[in-house]
Amino acid sequence: MDAIRLDYGNFMAPRLPGGVDPSTLSGRLTLAFETALSALSAWREEGDLGFLDLPYATDSVARVTELADGLGQSFDDIVVLGIGGSGLGAIALRDALLGPFWNQRSAEERDHFPRLHVLGNPDPHTFRRLMKQIDPARALFNVVSKSGATAETMAQYLVVRELLDGLVGPDNARSHFLFTTDSTSGALRRIGDAEGVAMLPVPDNVGGRFSVLSPVGLLPAAVCGADIGALLSGAAEMESRCRTNALSSNPAGILACLLHHADTGQGRPIHVMMPYADRLRSTALWFQQLWAESLGKRTTLSGEDKPTGPTPLAALGATDQHSLLQLLMEGPADKVVLFVAVDDPGAFVLIPQRHSEIDALSYLGGHSLGELLAAEHTATAEALRRAGRPNATIHLPAVNAHALGQLIMLLQIATVLAGSLYGVDPMNQPGVELGKQLTYGLMGRTGVPAPEIAEADPRWVL
Ligand code: PA5
Repeated sequence: MDAIRLDYGNFMAPRLPGGVDPSTLSGRLTLAFETALSALSAWREEGDLGFLDLPYATDSVARVTELADGLGQSFDDIVVLGIGGSGLGAIALRDALLGPFWNQRSAEERDHFPRLHVLGNPDPHTFRRLMKQIDPARALFNVVSKSGATAETMAQYLVVRELLDGLVGPDNARSHFLFTTDSTSGALRRIGDAEGVAMLPVPDNVGGRFSVLSPVGLLPAAVCGADIGALLSGAAEMESRCRTNALSSNPAGILACLLHHADTGQGRPIHVMMPYADRLRSTALWFQQLWAESLGKRTTLSGEDKPTGPTPLAALGATDQHSLLQLLMEGPADKVVLFVAVDDPGAFVLIPQRHSEIDALSYLGGHSLGELLAAEHTATAEALRRAGRPNATIHLPAVNAHALGQLIMLLQIATVLAGSLYGVDPMNQPGVELGKQLTYGLMGRTGVPAPEIAEADPRWVL
């Protein structure tokens, strides 16, 4: 099967004016990479990087397939209740592998697989609208929370549970739920055990944003007929490709080193991911969380108080050529762009020859929409290069499960390597805890005191 390729020539001097000198790559960056790869190996040996083993977790995949083929096919809709790493992966897999307008297609067009919705944000308007849109009595609710305690997810679970109890009765309601949660602890596991709800485990050593290839992302994708076998085989191939300690053959190593160097050595802390395929827009959003939550840390591994981390930004080509590109080309030189280009756009749409008398239109006739999109990527990468703005492109042969598995694993490994290069722990997220505790206090959780929120200062309120 085709391997995805990383073209980083537009980061390098002399091709890129002011780019990375090849001797820096083969010298200092190679040494840094070797240290980062050793750190990754040590973390792996300590059992902290469970995501690397997910492509080989055959028992877990068998259980996912069993539930997806059985329970999952008894419903018209599957609704994932999950936020952050427990929701973004399912959205990315849905959009990439099921394609546009999945939920608007007829049952025949979906080969009778269910529609797939993901409710992350507890926005009551969205929630109410979806409950009206679907028939909840014909829906499976996949509640995804590793901790089993996330307020946004558990609140929506409670509302849905009450709704289902009323619609189908408490006994039948149970079979409308599938919990994906920690294998032993947490409120969700407790409820599932007590009530006999079907459950799938999130491995202990797989953190939320690294869980897309665990039952967290696999179950919803498999219920809708996505080829999770190909997804995992692509991920396995990339995992094995990124084991090498030869930097020049290690795509995750190159990516991590160049992005880290761009930030810390060249003053470019803003890292834009810009796929040229609508189907990959949510993969860019998934990456945004992965890069931000893993690398944005206040305390370094050596205990130093030193706020650290790049700022990821998800974009879409060619749409954002009409939104962000002006800033990327001529704004502060503090950004790099990681494009994702797709060789086979998946559909051929010919642009007809019309209006040959109008120069502004006639050149388009006879080309395809896919050619136009590809030309826009090539042109944008070249324009950025000429402006001295570093950019790289990950080339996918097509948007399919095998290529996506490779891409996901590449970005996850690059994130862990970058964590080591930045000197931070990429697996934790201590910074979100205070906000959670304040929310608990405001919502009256037992044992959490009501917080004092700084009074609004009337001088600054209109
Ligand atoms: O990546 C992470 O760890 C977070 O984004 C979590 O996935 C998110 O906070 C949801 O947590 P949980 O799965 O415990 O509900």
